[in-house]
Amino acid sequence: QKNSFGLIGLAVMGQNLVLNVADHGFSVSVYNRTAERTHEFMSGEAKNKKITATYSPKEFVASLERPRIIQIMVKAGGAVDAVIAELKPWLDEGDIIIDGGNSYFSDTERRTKELESNKLRYIGMGVSGGEEGARFGPSLMPGGTKEAYALIEPLMSAIAAKAPEDGLPCVAYIGHGGAGHYVKMVHNGIEYADMQLIAESYALLKSTINPAPEEFHEIFTEWNNGELSSFLIEITAFIFTKSDDKTGRPLLEMILDKAGQKGTGKWTSQNAIDIGAPVPTITAAVDARILSSMKKERQEASKILSGPKNNYADERGKIIAAVRDALYASKICSYAQGMNLLKRASEEYGYNMDLGEIASIWRAGCIIRAKLLDDITRAYRSRSDLPNLLLDAGFKHAVQSRQASWRFAVKTAFELGIPAAALSASLAYFDAYRSGFLPANLIQAQRDYFGAHTFERIDTSGVFHANWKEK
Ligand code: 6PG
Repeated sequence: QKNSFGLIGLAVMGQNLVLNVADHGFSVSVYNRTAERTHEFMSGEAKNKKITATYSPKEFVASLERPRIIQIMVKAGGAVDAVIAELKPWLDEGDIIIDGGNSYFSDTERRTKELESNKLRYIGMGVSGGEEGARFGPSLMPGGTKEAYALIEPLMSAIAAKAPEDGLPCVAYIGHGGAGHYVKMVHNGIEYADMQLIAESYALLKSTINPAPEEFHEIFTEWNNGELSSFLIEITAFIFTKSDDKTGRPLLEMILDKAGQKGTGKWTSQNAIDIGAPVPTITAAVDARILSSMKKERQEASKILSGPKNNYADERGKIIAAVRDALYASKICSYAQGMNLLKRASEEYGYNMDLGEIASIWRAGCIIRAKLLDDITRAYRSRSDLPNLLLDAGFKHAVQSRQASWRFAVKTAFELGIPAAALSASLAYFDAYRSGFLPANLIQAQRDYFGAHTFERIDTSGVFHANWKEK
């Protein structure tokens, strides 16, 4: 009796996915580089489930039904290539390898070509939702050939999260080659932006009205009941309630203000620049993490450089409402940037992505799941070629009606010297996007002045160069 699914890499995500798959009635074979981890898993959570341990790639492959469906859950980079190389000698034509890690999409493109030349099938699949998601329903973003997807679809639909709105599974075919990993990368870029916007909102509230942790919990809980309802706001509300075992103080206050990152946010910004799609809020979030990591240098600078002093403590209600509005409007702008990056990438790489479908599979299971995604799904379903989310009637109204308080929140941050790079990047994006005229005429003049780079005119077509030094 052979098993219907195989998974390699029993770290936290791998283990939870295996348990999820087994709970849905599929028999699973597992293999891990170190046998000890496999033993632990088998005698722990995997006990009494339809899970078979194997201890070599050969044994692992032999234990699976054909065409084999093998998912690898190892660290992005060289480890993925190493696992593929180990597996390859034992595989047969038509077998499917799924990479469920956060691989860079161009690595996935390369691996797809290599494996397809060996008559094997390759699926690069974004998996979001952390441990909980993997165990009880992740959002899945598979890219590869349609026929390979058809073979894994029943299993993936079974284990994926289901959207609360319509019960649909949060998995859909994304596009060929690296399309799935591309979408996961952009998901993570949006995740970085969401997190930074929330962090700036927290800083803004702290520096103005300085809520106690319980009050912070109440504010975020209330926000989570409205248009900001999302996983990240929900967990933020909980974070304020946790106290430190060691000191009894709020744990948040004991955490060093140095943000880590594994690279997916950075890749989003890098690739967006490469293909010419502006994602200023995402980039601001990546920069903010980098700046935060310069803790020592900031501490030194804080002794030398000083900022303004202002007082907003008496405007409690107004500040809380303004920050909430600024957060929501800024979030819309960062999703607009992310969706437009996907649109641009789809053209650039021929992925033929369905933006409404992508928004719909982010509605549950993943880190950026949010009420807002119901509206984004609707916006693209009613108009798949929407040039920008801000042009959808609902989003237009949402942003315009919050404009005054959004500006007030950003202005307050500037007045108080609170870094609000992501909130203000979103606002500047909105202002630039709605400008029929930008000062780029001056940039063109400068380029032509020093380098004869030429310019176009507003009144005649053609390419012009001026002799600038001649008065
Ligand atoms: C998810 C997350 C996850 C990502 C972490 C860490 O969708 O479940 O995006 O895949 O690896 O959030 O990212 P950083 O370490 O770069 O913050």
